[in-house]
Parts: sequence; C-alpha cells; structure tokens
Amino acid sequence: MSSVYAPLANDRFLRALRRQPVEQTPVWIMRQAGRYLPEYRATRARAGSFMKLCQTPELACEVTLQPLARFPLDAAILFSDILTVPDAMGLTLSFVEGEGPRLANPLRTRADIDKLSVPDIGSSLRYVTDAVRLIRRELNGRVPLIGFTGSPWTLACYMVEGSGSEHFALAKSLLWDDPASAHRLLDVLARSVTAYLQAQIDAGAQALMIFDTWGGALGVGHYREFSLRYIAQIADALVRGEGEARVPLIVFSKGCGHSLEQQADIGADGIGLDWTTALADARNRIGARVALQGNVDPVVLYASDAAVRAEGKRAVHEFGRHPGHIFNLGHGIHPGINPERLGALIDAVHSESRSLFSSRTL
Ligand code: CP3
Repeated sequence: MSSVYAPLANDRFLRALRRQPVEQTPVWIMRQAGRYLPEYRATRARAGSFMKLCQTPELACEVTLQPLARFPLDAAILFSDILTVPDAMGLTLSFVEGEGPRLANPLRTRADIDKLSVPDIGSSLRYVTDAVRLIRRELNGRVPLIGFTGSPWTLACYMVEGSGSEHFALAKSLLWDDPASAHRLLDVLARSVTAYLQAQIDAGAQALMIFDTWGGALGVGHYREFSLRYIAQIADALVRGEGEARVPLIVFSKGCGHSLEQQADIGADGIGLDWTTALADARNRIGARVALQGNVDPVVLYASDAAVRAEGKRAVHEFGRHPGHIFNLGHGIHPGINPERLGALIDAVHSESRSLFSSRTL
C-alpha cells in the first residue's frame, strides 16, 4: 500500500501516537484547512460550493496543503467533511451559506432507519479515496496524512435532525423512545464508517481520527451505550496492520472527559481532549496506555500574541517530559482568528518542548 509513496521525512506525529520519544511535541490543528485562511476562501470561491471543493480531488488536495505551506505543522488532515457518509447513504448534503449543513432527506420514521444500508464506498465516496491518493503523492513524505470520519452517534445527530441543533431533541429522544431503532441506526453507521475508514487506509491514510463532536451532548450512561460502544465496534473491526506499519487511531469525544478510562480501553492509540479536561489529570488517570491529543481552547487565538504563546507553553509543561503528547486545540480553529496567532502558537509549542526535552534532569 504505502510503499508506493516516499518515506516520511517527519514522523513525530506517528511516534508520539506510539508513545515513543520525540525531539519536540508534534502539532496539528483541527480544521487547519479552513476559512481563517484567505487562500482557502479563494479556492472555495473558485470551487463555487463547499461540496464541489470536497468532491474535486485536485481542489481538496490544494486546500489540504495550504496550511502546511504557511506553518511547520507535523501532520496533514484530509480535506473533506464528516457528512459525506450520510450523503452517500442517500440523505443528500448541502451547505447553505452562513447556516451550516443541511440533509435534504432526514430520518423521520423507523422505516427510514430500516431502509439504510452500508454505501458502496468505491463508487459513492470514490472522490474521497481519490483525494487521499493525490494528497499522499503531493505530500511526498513531508508529514503523515490523517484520514477521518464522524462517529456513528455524531452522524446520527445530523441524520435525525437534518441539520445542526441546539439540543438535539429529536436525536436524543430516539434513544429514550425507541432504543432498538437507535441501535439499528448506530450499527449500520458503525459498519458504514468502518468500510469508509478501511478504504481511506487502502488509499494511503497514515492515521485515522473519529470525530465524536456530540458525544458530550449525552448523559454519561447514554454516551457509553450509544456512542462509545459503536466507536469501539469500529476500532475492533478495522484492519490496521501490525508494528510500526500499524495505522494509529485517535478518538475524540468532545465534552466526554468523564469517560477517559473507558475511552482508553477500546483499542485506540490516542484520545482527543477538549479544554475542560487537564492534560496532567488525563495522564494521571490513564497513564501511558494511549497518547493524548489537545487541549487548548481555540478562543485563545483571539487574545494577544503573548497570551497565545503562554498558552502553548502551559500545555507543554502540563503534559511534561513523557512521550505521547500531540498538541492540538480542543476543537476546530475559528474562522475569525488572525492566522499569525496560529503561527505563534505552533512556534511556542515546538520551541518550548524542544528545550524541555533536551534539558538535563537533575
Ligand atoms: O480539520 C480539517 O482541516 C479537515 C476538514 C474538516 C472539515 N470538517 C472541513 C469543513 C473536518 C475534519 C470536518 C469535520 C466535521 N464536520 C465535524 C467534526 C469536527 C467538528 O468540527 O466538530 C463536524 C461536526 C462537521 C459538520 C460540519 N461541516 C459543520 C457543522 C459545518 C459548518 C460549520 C461552520 O463553521 O460553518 C461544516 C462545514 C465545513 N467543514 C467547513 C470546513 C472547512 C466550512 C465550510 C465553508 O467553507 O463554508
């Protein structure tokens, strides 16, 4: 598979996921290709729509590489969206300017759920695997490429509501009112997402991340029964290779610091943290069983250069001199920030961790 591509010049991100020592903390940023970059906005305007951008491998590749041209990031992430899977399952995705995602055919009845099946990834999501291949070629071994998906529960939220939602009243009601249908929906999504991630591995994705953005909308019991359980099903079913060739998996359930121990038990290599869980506390709770990714509040990037740098240094020291930290924000970068602030943050994390790791212990 990956042997057709150049060897990696910078594998710090993969080494950190294996909890091996690195000379400086690897950094990548959720939504690093996005609207805070003027060059992204220009390519998106040229594409005409967000979906066109996702569905045209040359354009998806171009925007994937844009943040790497500006910043010394340690990983690239495929440019796409989690909602391509519901689109391929027939729910028909569009993005209305300023309003976010819309699914034209949301799930309204039990029969709508029973009609769903695992989509044929090779045809309906071919544009994603084509983009992965093209990005791997264009990256030419500079940094690893992360593939991704939404978690079954987070996808179900959009599929039941038809859009984003303040309270996810319809999606959450389904869990209480008709748990059997909810389980059927989450199971078909887990199988779909497994096939989708497997296709991304086959196309050359070197790490995988499952975004469970709305795991934190659930109570603890429901989170474990309806979200984490299906993430575990995916982690179990994926064929990810062995040893150094193994494709690592990161699980990010936003707002779910209550269940770190359970997350660490499902066979993932890394756990994503938001800013409501301290890196040091998380490490104390789960030790070195998995790597930790996070956890800075994205809103700090609206503050001064000095505050941004201090926040990066704080995260480095809070995790400490152990292997197994990947620096990231605790959620996606906001469109309104000045990109120079991101440069300052990355620089602070890299330089502070380099000096921490090279200093002698007493
Ligand atoms: O991280 C990256 O750079 C990779 C690209 C990526 C996008 N979406 C591009 C995007 C990734 C990993 C996602 C994941 C995603 N999409 C999630 C999970 C992570 C998270 O942020 O919580 C979710 C919930 C979605 C669904 C989605 N897509 C929403 C709610 C929106 C609208 C949000 C907004 O800010 O308006 C999108 C659109 C979207 N996906 C944009 C980008 C760059 C903005 C679209 C535009 O150009 O107008």
